[in-house]
Amino acid sequence: MSLLELEDVKVHFPVKKGVLFDRTVGHVYAVDGVSLKVEAGQTYGLVGESGCGKTTLGRGVLRLVDITDGEVVFDGTDLAKLPAEEMRRFRRRLQMVFQDPLGSLNPRQNIESILSEGMAAHGIGANQEERREKIKEVLAKVGLPVNALSRYPHEFSGGQRQRIGIARALVLEPDVIICDEPVSALDVSVQAQVINLLEELQKSLGLTYLVIAHDLAVVRHISDVIGVMYLGSLVEEASSDALYADPKHPYTKALMSAVPLPDPEAEDRRERILLQGDLPSPANPPTGCRFHTRCPWAQPKCGIERPALVDAGDGHKVACHYAAEIASGALQQTRPTDIGAVTETEEAVTEQPASTAETSVTLLPADSTTKPDPETVKEKVPSATEAPSAPTADAVVKDADTVQPGASGTSSDKTD
Ligand SMILES: Nc1ncnc2c1ncn2[C@@H]1O[C@H](COP(=O)(O)OP(=O)(O)OP(=O)(O)O)[C@@H](O)[C@H]1O
Ligand code: SF4
Ligand SMILES: [Mg+2]
Repeated sequence: MSLLELEDVKVHFPVKKGVLFDRTVGHVYAVDGVSLKVEAGQTYGLVGESGCGKTTLGRGVLRLVDITDGEVVFDGTDLAKLPAEEMRRFRRRLQMVFQDPLGSLNPRQNIESILSEGMAAHGIGANQEERREKIKEVLAKVGLPVNALSRYPHEFSGGQRQRIGIARALVLEPDVIICDEPVSALDVSVQAQVINLLEELQKSLGLTYLVIAHDLAVVRHISDVIGVMYLGSLVEEASSDALYADPKHPYTKALMSAVPLPDPEAEDRRERILLQGDLPSPANPPTGCRFHTRCPWAQPKCGIERPALVDAGDGHKVACHYAAEIASGALQQTRPTDIGAVTETEEAVTEQPASTAETSVTLLPADSTTKPDPETVKEKVPSATEAPSAPTADAVVKDADTVQPGASGTSSDKTD
């Protein structure tokens, strides 16, 4: 059994309205069915664009937000079902390092006070003297001088403050550390130092990490396994090397195509996959495949059926109905992804009335691309009049076996 196992975890935030009495008028589906396993001593990297639910998932694991459904099994115990008092005991073993080191450190406390607070709460050290000795040891491990003890957070640089954040987690001797964007607030020159420190600490202390980042370059270096998240769920998961060598999901391909290459010639040859539109609102997610409103290969079926995350071989998991056809080249793109075409499309969208401008994610008719509260309405198969927004006539499928019913019709995505 893995040290940390998430099974179909959901975190839905109720949206309330009303003056005297709050009524729940909908939900934000921040995390909508995530299953993953983190092995002891390894690093699981979780990537995805802003707002896709990464932080909420991390906070859900620690029960800092309520889990709507699913299991969070840590060392054999389902944390999701633990009474609050028992959860408090487990919390020492699962710690979090936050993105904004300054915002997460109390400016009025000195470093000794910040670090000993959690130790005292969890009964670590018989007295302050013992706690101070332990803190000195940990400060040395994270590369901070011992005189840091009496200083205040604002006296440190960004990188040093993140080291303090890491030390605050380490003094509690955790098994798992959830690092939420641990370097994204830091200068590029300092980022590598902090990542290297996390790696060294993992080796010397046998730590297990869940590292959350929007930057693939950051997680690649440190992760054994990477999960790619889109709008509340995982769309792909593989070992770090496999994901980089052969990204299978169209969203991962797009993310990967944006990572700069060190070789200038390869960088010049690199084909960018540019996506149209922004991440849809998690309060109103698209039906079927959550990515179908932006996917360059979307087909009619994609707006209807939600693909499961399945093993495509060697543990490389992908949630796409057409991953094999896209990889073999049997399925052609249905939306442009080069800069010229994307710009043209978006300009055309702004010039057209909303009713005809179907190339833009934001202007698609709401009832055909979004789903109402799944608490009340299960996913449905649209009728002919509720056809999904995925392109149709442009859905050129070379392999006849892969043609889906309804794959013909007039194009709504053509831009020229
Ligand atoms: N307490 C809350 N109540 C309502 N909605 C929330 C709450 N916390 C987060 N959300 C919403 O849930 C969605 C996911 O947010 P989250 O912070 O988990 O994203 P993220 O992937 O960490 O983004 P970023 O990369 O910007 O940190 C967002 O739409 C956010 O507005
Ligand atoms: S091809 Fe369809 S199922 Fe696959 S990612 Fe694109 S929209 Fe989703
Ligand atoms: Mg976040």
